[in-house]
Amino acid sequence: MDINELLRFADELIFDSTGKHLDLYQQAILRGTWHRKKYSEIAKKCNSTKGHVQNVGSDLWRTMSNLLGEEVRKSNFRSAMERLLVSNIDNFGNNVNSIYIGDIDINVRKEIYQPLPVAEADRDSARGTPQTQLQDIEDAPDVTCFWGRKSELHSLKKWIVDEKSSLVGILGLSGIGKTTLAVRFLELVRDNFECIFWRSLRFGPPAKDIETELLKFLAAPTDYEEVLDEDNGGDLSIYERRRKLYDYLKKSRCLIIFDDVEALFTKGELSGKYPPEYQEYSSLFQEIVQINMDSTLLLISSEKPRELTGLRDCLQLRGLGEAAREIIREEGLSDSGWRTLASNYGGNPSWLKSISPTIANLFNSSIEDFLQYSPFLLNEKLKEFLRKDIQRLSTMELELLSHISSKAEPVSLSRLRAEMSLSPGDLLTAMESLQGRSLLEEILLDESEEKVFKIQPLIKEYLK
Ligand SMILES: Nc1ncnc2c1ncn2[C@@H]1O[C@H](COP(=O)(O)OP(=O)(O)OP(=O)(O)O)[C@@H](O)[C@H]1O
Ligand SMILES: [Mg+2]
Repeated sequence: MDINELLRFADELIFDSTGKHLDLYQQAILRGTWHRKKYSEIAKKCNSTKGHVQNVGSDLWRTMSNLLGEEVRKSNFRSAMERLLVSNIDNFGNNVNSIYIGDIDINVRKEIYQPLPVAEADRDSARGTPQTQLQDIEDAPDVTCFWGRKSELHSLKKWIVDEKSSLVGILGLSGIGKTTLAVRFLELVRDNFECIFWRSLRFGPPAKDIETELLKFLAAPTDYEEVLDEDNGGDLSIYERRRKLYDYLKKSRCLIIFDDVEALFTKGELSGKYPPEYQEYSSLFQEIVQINMDSTLLLISSEKPRELTGLRDCLQLRGLGEAAREIIREEGLSDSGWRTLASNYGGNPSWLKSISPTIANLFNSSIEDFLQYSPFLLNEKLKEFLRKDIQRLSTMELELLSHISSKAEPVSLSRLRAEMSLSPGDLLTAMESLQGRSLLEEILLDESEEKVFKIQPLIKEYLK
């Protein structure tokens, strides 16, 4: 979707209800807001005062909120529009128009232009009807800008919406865009679920607390007393708690999202290792895989939970590819040289966003000048970013990573075996563990050749 389509959509919407077309101020406000301009900048553009534009703006948001059945403000306008245009997707294929969201081409039904019913969480309303969603997604961040990831969105949709897999994972390096992808996915498919629950595990809550919260959330007001009566059922045994939880997950179609799952794992040890206090998460994830239900638990992590090993429904998120150009543009950098910059920084949006201010400040936003000065520069922000990931490694992994890092070319397992003093078993364990952290990428040059492994150039730079 571009701004002209959006203006047409808004104009039709307002004309249908008021009989008046958008005036020039309203158009300027919508256009400016879409491009993230401040009221003062919009006012300058249409030769007016900030106060006047602000007044027109608040009337406009009020009218649009009434027409759309959800609160629209300047700060959420863009995401509200995008969500509105995609939230009616029930089939990515049939009888559709094509609409672009960022550079994602998503097929959207014609009736998408109808105002949507309000789909807010409402504990008191009946559960289980498609329009009535029970949702607890306060923990999910707002996503105002989203580029690329078309095939990843389709994989998630296939596994979660179509195939109704019980356990799905999104894995990838820190800052690669896991959370952002999941938020966008949720926006696209939320109408398929009766209950949606999002929790970040970054502060390491015990499994019991999260399960109890989830159970409280899923229990309709009528069941609440019976399910979690503080006097008698409040402290349920793990068996009882899980039995009730799984009953709810079987009865309703729920999407449960646990973000920042890596916070559960022990630092300084092999990846995905639970300390004793978090073992219950492991059994929860294992049991969930076995349950025959329409609900899904989506785990988002920079360290692979062992329960995801061998599961097909696991997305390994790589760099942004072509879409990295949009991040670079948004950061206000010159276009020329963007491809090399994106490749050097692994297409990792956080890495690109971290280095951009340095390029803007010291190189007058010229990527080419920056690359000439140093193609893999790490500023303090980036070092801090990478330090957190590297500090989580075990000694064995660090030894292996440093060894691979010292090589100019990707290396094969047999070469590593010959060059390193690690036992064959330890070497394989360390390799798998680094893969579980998305730190090792494997390349199959040719079917007949041995696989070779490489690491991101920026991580090499950090380890120097
Ligand atoms: N597809 C995308 N389009 C635009 N911006 C993106 C995209 N993916 C990620 N970003 C931006 O990159 C940054 C990091 O994204 P995000 O927080 O989703 O990464 P993450 O993999 O969840 O990181 P962490 O492992 O630290 O939780 C955010 O500022 C986000 O807005
Ligand atoms: Mg995240």
